Amino acid sequence: MKKTNTVTTCFVFTVLIFAGLMIFSTWAIAEEATPVKLPPPQTDGGKPLMQVLNDRASSREFSAEKLSMQVVSDLLWAAWGINRPETGKRTAPSARNRQEIDVYVASEDALYRYDAEAHQLIPVMNEDIRADTGKQEFVKTAPVNLIYVADFSKVSGESTEDKYFYAGADTGFISENVYLYCTSAGLATVVRGYVDKPALEKKMGLGPEKKVTLCQSVGYPKE
Ligand SMILES: Cc1cc2nc3c(=O)[nH]c(=O)nc-3n(C[C@H](O)[C@H](O)[C@H](O)COP(=O)(O)O)c2cc1C
Repeated sequence: MKKTNTVTTCFVFTVLIFAGLMIFSTWAIAEEATPVKLPPPQTDGGKPLMQVLNDRASSREFSAEKLSMQVVSDLLWAAWGINRPETGKRTAPSARNRQEIDVYVASEDALYRYDAEAHQLIPVMNEDIRADTGKQEFVKTAPVNLIYVADFSKVSGESTEDKYFYAGADTGFISENVYLYCTSAGLATVVRGYVDKPALEKKMGLGPEKKVTLCQSVGYPKE
């Protein structure tokens, strides 16, 4: 009888601890999932286009200075924001307007996904994964590493070759927008393919339909 009571008590304790952990983890996920609203993008100012084209360059040396929320807002809107709300179309073109590229932002604080519709950041992971975004030393400390991810669940009726071709092309337009914005705003940037993509996809918890295409570091130039 005594033995049965002990077993029952242990069982009840285990269930209570388990339930407590479940409630805590649900709460923690809910806390993490609170989106970060970005300020409206500043769409005036900056250098004239011909001057920007004259100055555009890749740069691999960054200062430790963090980007303000306004700069992150302008950067993401320039990259892949919605510039025609009436149609939901973007600052960069995409094959058959599939808009299959997602832009993730890896910073010291966390990993976010850019939600262009609401112009906000969706927290994905409360961890600094900058070092996982490339095999070069500077990626660990660049204030922001953008990760471009093709969501092939949005693409149907294409051969595998075409899916990857369009994903690469669509990423290229977004990346060039980032180059142009950075040059205009006095920021340094470099797009990167030297990335352990399967490892990064695993780290980010991406499903089988989502593939990393390229990464791009952004920050202020080193003094
Ligand atoms: C698809 C692609 C992948 C690239 N991958 C890397 C990379 O992994 N690491 C890097 O430092 N630069 C990378 N770059 C940047 C090129 O090295 C750079 O654009 C080239 O040297 C020309 O220099 P510029 O951009 O200053 O004109 C890449 C560029 C492209 C377009």
